[in-house]
Amino acid sequence: MQRIIDILALSADYLKAKGIPQPRRNAELLLCDVLGKSRLELYLEHDRPVTEEQLSALRELMRARAAHKPLQYVLGKTEFFSLPFQIPEGVFIPRPETELLVEEVIRHIRSLPESQEIIVYDVGTGSGCIAVSVASNVPNCRVYASDISAKAIAVAKDNAERNGVGERVVLLHGDLFAPYIEHGAPKADVIASNPPYISEEDWESLPEEVRRFEPRESLLAGRKGLECLVRIIASATSSLKPGGKIFLEVGQGQREEVMAFLQNAYKYIDMASRKDYNNIERVVIATFAASGEECGAKEKRDR
Ligand SMILES: C[S@@+](CC[C@H](N)C(=O)[O-])C[C@H]1O[C@@H](n2cnc3c(N)ncnc32)[C@H](O)[C@@H]1O
Repeated sequence: MQRIIDILALSADYLKAKGIPQPRRNAELLLCDVLGKSRLELYLEHDRPVTEEQLSALRELMRARAAHKPLQYVLGKTEFFSLPFQIPEGVFIPRPETELLVEEVIRHIRSLPESQEIIVYDVGTGSGCIAVSVASNVPNCRVYASDISAKAIAVAKDNAERNGVGERVVLLHGDLFAPYIEHGAPKADVIASNPPYISEEDWESLPEEVRRFEPRESLLAGRKGLECLVRIIASATSSLKPGGKIFLEVGQGQREEVMAFLQNAYKYIDMASRKDYNNIERVVIATFAASGEECGAKEKRDR
């Protein structure tokens, strides 16, 4: 019978030959799933034999991964903000950059008076990763999360329940802000969104794994990648409370245009942004001014 250590070496070599990045890590995570063990346990028990039944289950997962199906879809799950999420095919895989947006949202909410219930919208929720992470970390908030994909809404609901925040995360199916209005959701203190922002031009340069397996409509947003962002910014003003904040994830090189649009919409002030681990401006933050006068005052200060 082969041991864990031998299987890992063989599996990593196989995935490497198939051009899978981080082959050893992938092999470990697949074997962990089959054996129901952590990576640490794999190391500690590296001499342990693997049964024929376990090997056959591993082969099936390896075949899928070798065909470049993303690891998260092969496993049907991932971790985001240290929380577990189910990720079936057809639902966008959460990315580490989005954790920065969640950090900013949580930091902001924690700076507000605790006695108040904070209303958060998560527009284009996908797996529910933003909505669930915010709700898990901030007890005094209620999150309304929407998506145009019915499948995403079902998965996000499941993820909210698994993470124990099902009662404070309301899932709404529909186009951008329309379902919030239909549902009669209260106005938001915070709007967060990681919308589709890939331009048609950049589509071809995305990794094959992304183009072949992830839902196109969760990524592509018109010629310059700004279609969805522009729609969100334009409509958010009727959903935000005066003084409320918007947090948007943006693509490389989109920060300036997004900020200009926020400013020209004339009701957003106090613009800020945050870079990701690759030094790319990734999160744009702005405040919805209480009145047009305040916008004017801010503009004068800035000139
Ligand atoms: C980039 S994914 C982000 C998903 C999730 N928020 C995350 O960060 O992992 C964009 C999501 O927006 C949804 N979406 C695209 N167009 C939409 C629209 N017009 N209205 C609502 N949701 C939309 C997609 O279905 C997808 O789930």
